Amino acid sequence: MEIFRKKTFNPAERGALKRTLTLKDLILLGIGAIIGTGIFVITGQATANYAGPALSISFVVAAIVVILSGLCFAEFASRVPILGGPYAYLYVVFGEVVAWFAGWFLLWEFMLAVASVASGWSGYFQGFLSSLGLDLPTALTGGYDPQAGTYVDLVAAIVVVFVTFWVTQEAKKALRLNNAMVWVKFAIIALFIVVGVFFVKPSNWQPFTPFGAKGIFDGAALVFFAFLGFDAVAMAAEEVKNPQKDVPRGIIGSILIATVLYIVVTLIMSGIVPYDQLNVSDPVAFAMRYVGHDFLGSVIAIGAILTLLSVTISMMYSLARLLYAISKDGLLPRFMQEIDPKHQTPKKATLVAGAVSLFFAAAFPLEILAELTNIVALSYLSLMGLGLLKLRKTMGPPKKGEFKVPFVPLLPVLSVASCVFLMLQLQGITWIVFAITLLLGLAIYLGYGYKHSVLNDK
Ligand code: ALA
Repeated sequence: MEIFRKKTFNPAERGALKRTLTLKDLILLGIGAIIGTGIFVITGQATANYAGPALSISFVVAAIVVILSGLCFAEFASRVPILGGPYAYLYVVFGEVVAWFAGWFLLWEFMLAVASVASGWSGYFQGFLSSLGLDLPTALTGGYDPQAGTYVDLVAAIVVVFVTFWVTQEAKKALRLNNAMVWVKFAIIALFIVVGVFFVKPSNWQPFTPFGAKGIFDGAALVFFAFLGFDAVAMAAEEVKNPQKDVPRGIIGSILIATVLYIVVTLIMSGIVPYDQLNVSDPVAFAMRYVGHDFLGSVIAIGAILTLLSVTISMMYSLARLLYAISKDGLLPRFMQEIDPKHQTPKKATLVAGAVSLFFAAAFPLEILAELTNIVALSYLSLMGLGLLKLRKTMGPPKKGEFKVPFVPLLPVLSVASCVFLMLQLQGITWIVFAITLLLGLAIYLGYGYKHSVLNDK
């Protein structure tokens, strides 16, 4: 069996997608995908249960891991600018079976992220409906959890259907809505910071590390989620006007902006509210209400409702394009590679992405979704670090004008080690589900992908 057969990258080969995206589109796409449920929902829980005010340090730890991976990513994106992201890069350096697994992890990451964010969105939206005196029947308010009496998250399901429709219409149109939402996101975060800073009581930062170093690392493994989406930028490479320069800049720019905002928001939030009271589903709005600014709390809640929608759109956009790229290589059924003639988008791939995300968003609770998202993401990022070492061996150092990772091999080795370190902080149940995912991926590759790969024709 030739499971390590490789694809060759020919820079002259370009796909059929429109080349319309600029650096500004990319940074907005990045921020649109990155800032979401992580900061608006998970921060509260992570501060209360894992790290206390030191969650700000957890963000630094997670950001270092993300930046190390982001740099490796950027070199790939700059030197191998083809659609499909890590999946496509690893196809070139390691060969098919590794590429398949990277693609498989990525499909899960985006699918679980779409579902997670839709689920976080549902929480905020239902809170808002509740404040108007409108409550859904309990059975329809959350993923399957018979003890809590919830079976289906109806609101999350509806939002996935809406987003799928929007993304099939036209990439540019979907991103335009996304761009507008990014400004809303900046506005509510700025509002929170500017008002919140006057209510910070430094005594709330004592103790700063109530759960010790372990809490900081456990917190980092959870809030790693908050940085996911930075790869959406790399995945759009085939639709970027000037990919060599703009893709790496887009990735690193969006990670840095997010990191600064996360640290500031966490410090202010835990400076306003004692950390052990932050275990709520809308902590940013909650902190405003805590100091008597109910109206501003509602403004922030509505802003979060709007912006979490934009995160779902970015994730769905990337998920559909990844399905398209993998199908183009024959590893998944070929109907997903069809480009809709009217809108020039991979419509069928988007519909498949929507259907699978819909199932997970409706059926599973947020906590399970977020941990699983992290473990699959960290897995493929480890593969990326190893891939960079191999890339340097096979293709040599980058040429002038291409993005270059400094301190090779030290930096990629640190990147792999730090990803594995964060994975080890995750719970046993997450590892069990992860193992099942691995076996399923192997079965699909051996049962379908290996036989249908376009590399068979060569
Ligand atoms: N980083 C994205 C979020 O926090 C997945 O919602």
